[in-house]
Amino acid sequence: MALTVPVRRARGRPAWRWGDLSLAARFNLASLLVLLISMLVTGWWVGAQIRQGVIHRTAATAALYVENFLVTQLQELGSSTWLSAERRDAIEHLLATTPLGREIVSIKIWAPGGRVVYGQDAGGVFPVKEDLERAWRGEISADITNLRDEENASQRGKFRHLIETYVPMRIEGSDRVIAVAEFYQTTGPLEAEIAQAQRRSWAAVGLTTLLTYLLLSGLVRRGSDTIRRQQATLREQVGTLERLLTQNAQLHGRVSRAAARTAAHSERVLRRVSSDLHDGPAQDLSYALLRLDSLTTHAAGQPAQEAALRSVEQSLEAALREVRAIATDLRLPDLLGLSLHETLERALRDHRRRTGVDATLHAEALPDGVPLPVKITAFRIVQEALNNAARHAPGRASAVHADAQGGWLTLRITDGGPGFTWTGGAREGHLGLVGMRERAESLGGTFTVTARPEGGTAVEARVPLHPAESHPEDRDD
Ligand SMILES: Nc1ncnc2c1ncn2[C@@H]1O[C@H](COP(=O)(O)OP(=O)(O)O)[C@@H](O)[C@H]1O
Ligand SMILES: [Mg+2]
Repeated sequence: MALTVPVRRARGRPAWRWGDLSLAARFNLASLLVLLISMLVTGWWVGAQIRQGVIHRTAATAALYVENFLVTQLQELGSSTWLSAERRDAIEHLLATTPLGREIVSIKIWAPGGRVVYGQDAGGVFPVKEDLERAWRGEISADITNLRDEENASQRGKFRHLIETYVPMRIEGSDRVIAVAEFYQTTGPLEAEIAQAQRRSWAAVGLTTLLTYLLLSGLVRRGSDTIRRQQATLREQVGTLERLLTQNAQLHGRVSRAAARTAAHSERVLRRVSSDLHDGPAQDLSYALLRLDSLTTHAAGQPAQEAALRSVEQSLEAALREVRAIATDLRLPDLLGLSLHETLERALRDHRRRTGVDATLHAEALPDGVPLPVKITAFRIVQEALNNAARHAPGRASAVHADAQGGWLTLRITDGGPGFTWTGGAREGHLGLVGMRERAESLGGTFTVTARPEGGTAVEARVPLHPAESHPEDRDD
């Protein structure tokens, strides 16, 4: 069967990414962008202001001039609705002969009601636009026009821009506006002036922007150098700390392994002592009992001697039982093939056999594959705690609770005795509690003995199920 492998086209990754840039580079780029935008906005705005200013200045001068030479010619409009042919000729003459007249491309005289009384479209009536309306109210207004309006159609081919000005014409000696002159001027020399002023303003804005950028990026570079230096120091310190932590973990592992080896060694010593007890004093006691038997037959019929021999025999038998019990206690059963649960069951069974007292086991879901040192520790702690319970709380029920959670084994051995809290002090010749604590702590665990509020003593040991760096040889799974 042919397998079809979906071919995913590797999407081109950009050569650099924003996130790869240093903080300073990112700041520089961002501030450059912001500065450029604000430079453009400021430059454009200043340029527009300059243009407006120049136009208005020029228009105001022209308006004054136009008003001066037209106002006398238009006085008759104060009483008549039309401009006489004589006046029209005079205006024509003025436009043709004066210097300003030559700069004026076209002129229109408006009478009230949107009526054109002079210029192109003379005799026509047009809607009154805003500029015209303002002039009727007595204001001069000027603007640059790009000749898009219908009424400017004739100039469109000849000029790109013209200055359009509306000037109110008043009756001499009064404020009454009798006509409005609308005239168009070429922008030729003005454009050059405006362009030069704008160039200068652009240069100023550009220079300011450049200086601001250099200042900012200089400041940021110094800041980012400091940060880089501090980061390097920090990295060095983190490295040192990591090395120390590794060393610490190695030392901890070595200590744990040493503790496990010591525990194994002491188990071996205990086993040898147990064998020695069994093969030495126990054999001797058995032999002594055997010889005593023959002495008893010889003493038959002598009650005093018989009683003395009986007492010796009882003492010897008690000593033999004690020596055998000690030897059995010392010898650790072979736990290698047992699970943790079986180990605990074994400890309880041995205890029952030795003391004849039953203890109950509550254990749930104990894991398999627990390392041998953990099983030995569990066995010894349960053994010693049950021994203490039998000795110091005789005839009372005792129980063993085992619980494995979150990688920790918790053993809790309780009895119904008088209740005892251990503060950690050692007493000469009493090695049980000290030994249990040492076993638990050598695995990195904890050990406590407390009187329970409901009565009796609770012995609690917590050990890791897999102690740090537990040696492969110590595992039996
Ligand atoms: N379960 C218990 N109930 C009451 N007292 C206890 C119990 N376990 C230990 N003790 C007290 O702690 C002492 C020390 O115990 P341990 O170190 O095991 O030594 P030993 O059992 O040989 O006396 C005991 O002598 C006893 O007074
Ligand atoms: Mg004890």
